[in-house]
Amino acid sequence: MTVIGPGQTETKKREQDYFVRFNTGQRLEHIVLMVSFIVLSVTGLAQRYSTADWGQFVIFNLGGIEYTRLIHRGFGILFTLSIVYHLTYASYAVFGRHARPSMVPTLKDARDVVASLRYGFGFSDRPPQFGRFDYRQKFEYWGMIFGSMVIIVTGFILMYPYVITAVLSGQFVAAAREFHGYEATLAVLTIVVWHFYEVIFRPGIFPGDLTIFTGKISRKRMLEEHPMEYAELAESGKAGPAPAGAEPAGE
Ligand code: HEM
Repeated sequence: MTVIGPGQTETKKREQDYFVRFNTGQRLEHIVLMVSFIVLSVTGLAQRYSTADWGQFVIFNLGGIEYTRLIHRGFGILFTLSIVYHLTYASYAVFGRHARPSMVPTLKDARDVVASLRYGFGFSDRPPQFGRFDYRQKFEYWGMIFGSMVIIVTGFILMYPYVITAVLSGQFVAAAREFHGYEATLAVLTIVVWHFYEVIFRPGIFPGDLTIFTGKISRKRMLEEHPMEYAELAESGKAGPAPAGAEPAGE
């Protein structure tokens, strides 16, 4: 298996079967986010449903409610730092280094939604062609960013309630708890139902897409799922020759 990367010889480029989709930093970011999200979901929901058997089981096995709260707050800070890091790095890449903002929704995404529906209902015989990220991935990404904003702001209100009650009524703290709890429930359901379907159970992907861990994606999947990105790489000479009959259909 050969992987393309900057500075590789032309011979190696020709042999390549895989492309680098995520660099080491992006893969590490995902691991930190994944681990902190799992710990926060377990320790948070156990507190929310502390009268249920499973809630008591979790709290008991973590050493009691004080430890459960401590773990939740510690990972809450880690989660916040990882989001702040991500947004700072992405802003620097786009505004400082003029990288292409591949997650920003475009008019093409809106057209792709319609094209997907038309294809799904049999009104068209050709599915839409995607670039680096499709409209579903962008929707999930922005949902995660805005959901994180809500959960982080309300989490800090719960962590330092006296800061809020110094200027506002105590009802804001009660409201923050409701927002935090419901947003957490929504986030967990979104990850379990939507994200797990996309990366584990989707036909063609099952038993799982390991790209975010290995960083690599096959030429076959590039052609099927990101044909426009592939076409750009091919145009700039970075894709090597494609197997016969495997050229992307284009827009
Ligand atoms: C995605 C991540 C998160 C999930 C799934 C989550 C989930 C939850 C849930 C379900 C509760 C219980 C709410 C209730 O009692 O109704 C809770 C409480 C709490 N959360 Fe989070 N949370 C997350 C992130 C955060 C963050 C980022 C912070 C802080 C920066 C935070 C701080 C708190 C605090 C302070 C409490 C109150 C319990 C305590 O006093 O320790 N959470 N969380």
